[in-house]
Amino acid sequence: TFSDAEKAAIVSIWGKVDGHADELGAEALERLFLSYPQTKTYFSHFNLSHGSQDLRSHGGKVLNAIGGAASHLDDLSGALSTLSDLHAYQLRVDPGNFRLLSHSIQVTLAAHFGAEFTPTAQSAWDKFLAAVSAVLVSKYR
Ligand code: HEM
Repeated sequence: TFSDAEKAAIVSIWGKVDGHADELGAEALERLFLSYPQTKTYFSHFNLSHGSQDLRSHGGKVLNAIGGAASHLDDLSGALSTLSDLHAYQLRVDPGNFRLLSHSIQVTLAAHFGAEFTPTAQSAWDKFLAAVSAVLVSKYR
């Protein structure tokens, strides 16, 4: 569960991302693939070069899903149920990769919203992304 202060920080930073999800999502993915090249194995069907439409489109989908979750902080499992099925039953992404993506997203937020992405805001986002990841890996067995 999230405190009122954490909820406020999550929603406030999402408000800055909203409308720029493709661009920021592409950057988060590019950071993921460059820093942790093993994560590219799931995306062999994508063009992963800098600025590609695949990066923008997929980055936008990922961040908009996170934005949707930001408005259901009291019911993340319900809000992410379909995505959870997809990642567990079809994609079978190794659960360890979720921490790497969460980190890449936080670095992207810090790079763009430096002053506003305060330590308090980061800690709220770290907790939020860990909670989203926990739902997405919850159906693995
Ligand atoms: C697909 C969100 C983590 C690999 C997707 C889609 C979304 C999404 C919204 C598109 C679903 C659709 O088209 O209906 C997320 C979120 C994550 C996360 C919110 C964590 C915060 C990961 C990780 C990996 C991964 C860590 C692997 C490193 C994939 C792959 C697809 C996918 C391979 C299918 C791409 C395609 O062929 O279009 N994810 N994802 N996801 N995700 Fe994730």
